[in-house]
Amino acid sequence: MRINTLTLSADKPDDVARAAAILAGGGIGAVPTETVYGLAGDATNPAAVQRIFEAKGRPSSDPLIVHVADLETAHCLAQFSPVADVIAHAFWPGALTLVLPRLGPIPDAVTAGRPTVALRCPAHPVMQQLLRTSGLALAAPSANPFGRLSPTCAAHVINSLGGAIDFVMDGGSAGLGLESTILDVMDHPVWKIYRPGPVSSETLAKWAKSAGFDPRISDYSGSHDDTVESLPAPGLFGRHYAPRTPLFLVRNGSAINRNGKEDPEEPKQAVVLTGMGGEQSNPERGLFVCSTDGSLESAANRLYEILHALDSGTWSRIVFEMFPEGGLGTALNNRLSRAAGSHEHDNPRTSWPEGDAQPVV
Ligand code: TXA
Ligand code: MG
Repeated sequence: MRINTLTLSADKPDDVARAAAILAGGGIGAVPTETVYGLAGDATNPAAVQRIFEAKGRPSSDPLIVHVADLETAHCLAQFSPVADVIAHAFWPGALTLVLPRLGPIPDAVTAGRPTVALRCPAHPVMQQLLRTSGLALAAPSANPFGRLSPTCAAHVINSLGGAIDFVMDGGSAGLGLESTILDVMDHPVWKIYRPGPVSSETLAKWAKSAGFDPRISDYSGSHDDTVESLPAPGLFGRHYAPRTPLFLVRNGSAINRNGKEDPEEPKQAVVLTGMGGEQSNPERGLFVCSTDGSLESAANRLYEILHALDSGTWSRIVFEMFPEGGLGTALNNRLSRAAGSHEHDNPRTSWPEGDAQPVV
């Protein structure tokens, strides 16, 4: 059943108050955060949580991140070890999600029945205002149909979830453009990164040293197991963050024709270069650059925007140059690999026309 999805503006105080009231009444809506847009609902209301899963088509085995206004609220929802507390003090509000032992009023549906809950205190002023005005903890996965590209602006959400949710709050472009880093320090001094993100392992390591910790930080984002239930972060399996258009990745783009295609019609291939070498876009020749200023920050800000735009065009395939590893580059490559399906067992995208650059996957 399609419903009327209101478009609200983050610039209008009445609209923000209206969104908060809808959420408090058990409704669900897309809200801007500093990472990507989230699909928010009252985390303590099982009916609202159920609607989030339905609107996204998300399996009930994949738990949701809960967003809180501050650390004080977080303390009511999860048990913080001393190290978790210091990390939250240092990185919140911000793009870091902590997986912690769950407490109190969070229903099973949010955590997929797990004994843990993933918590984040977002920095975005509109999301902060919604959390404070509504007085709620908000469950908010990325506001996209399950497995698809995350949204970085209101239009992305309207195109995919319009008619399935109560409102979309337009707050402009999500600044960082990549989902939060997900960190588990429950086995301190082993720190597990389930999803690399804007807070990189290098940043965490540097900060840990300055704070007097000596953790072993390991990347669990590529780990797999037989069943969803046994995965450390169940959303991190299979193809995800994916465009519909076949996506191929190339490492070391020297093999790509950096001038674009010779014949604009054949094949209808879009090539995306990192932009780290100062290349220029040439859309007529099917050539695009991700970073506009040579920085990884600009690349992260534009990654999903470019994939959304190319995916809504008539390209037969997208060839994407991978980023240098390290820092945000690790997070960018993680999303690209997942979008290309290189972590998928049964349908790897390995077919590749002869004579072209060899894909990584
Ligand atoms: O930046 C973000 O984190 C965005 C914005 C909206 O805050 N949210 C987001 O949520 O990316 P979502 O649902 O798309 O991704 C959350 C990931 C999923 O892979 C899920 O499996 C994992 O977090 N997760 C949630 N709860 C967990 C838990 N208790 N233990 C392990 N992983 C968990
Ligand atoms: Mg997501």
